[in-house]
Amino acid sequence: MSDRPIGIFDSGVGGLTVCKSINDLMPQENIIYFGDTARFPYGTRSKETIIRYSREITDYLISRNVKMIVIACNTASSAALDTIQNNYNIPVIGVIEPGAKAACKRLRGDSIGVIATRATVTSGSYIKEIRKINPSVKIYQQQATLFVPIAEEGLIDSDIARHAAREYIQDMYDKGVKTLILGCTHFPLLKKTISEIYMDLDLVDTGMEIAYEVQKTLKEKNLEIKGSSDRVGNIELYASDITENYRRLKDIFFCRVDTSISELIING
Ligand code: DGL
Repeated sequence: MSDRPIGIFDSGVGGLTVCKSINDLMPQENIIYFGDTARFPYGTRSKETIIRYSREITDYLISRNVKMIVIACNTASSAALDTIQNNYNIPVIGVIEPGAKAACKRLRGDSIGVIATRATVTSGSYIKEIRKINPSVKIYQQQATLFVPIAEEGLIDSDIARHAAREYIQDMYDKGVKTLILGCTHFPLLKKTISEIYMDLDLVDTGMEIAYEVQKTLKEKNLEIKGSSDRVGNIELYASDITENYRRLKDIFFCRVDTSISELIING
């Protein structure tokens, strides 16, 4: 049992979708979230740079005595999960494996689609994880980089978003994809728009899957917080640059008055 916080990080605001799912499932847990907004986006950066950023953030979270780390960023999970898991002595989970598992469990037909950033697609991390579970399923990947600024700018219900959705998804949809992994933390914000165009497409939003994985890990390691069920955990939000988008999303997800954002510069 431990009341130490869970450390969560992302390249920016997108990981708040994961943070929210974890908080919904385990409201009693304390959370420290760091969004690296000043160095966002990670999706177009080299693997070495993403590993360096991820290590710097992990060092900070460890200095705050977190009991586990959630890499709530597909790009950082693809590039840095192994390094972080091998170099730190606490449980570390990324977002790729839970997303791949959920897609295989919910598979409709014989193929899975993945939309993600360039770095995630290039890493092949989803292909690797899906193949471990289902070696014969067909996998179609598509980098959908433009979805990131579309979500950041709040253009989720716009013609630009609909146009980009068709550009990125139509081809795999025509090939028979009925299960689509939203392989970037920003993409759940576009779920409604995508569903309106592709009504029979099952969209795998990894946020909730990760929350279940976190819960399972805490139970296994006896690290859950114990006590009264109406306990409300403390949520500390940090960002390397407090942007308008961060404030907007924070207000959507965590409208509790005690949830403020603090600026924190991390540069090794
Ligand atoms: N958090 C990133 C991801 O899930 C968002 C995009 C980026 O940083 O490029 O891939």
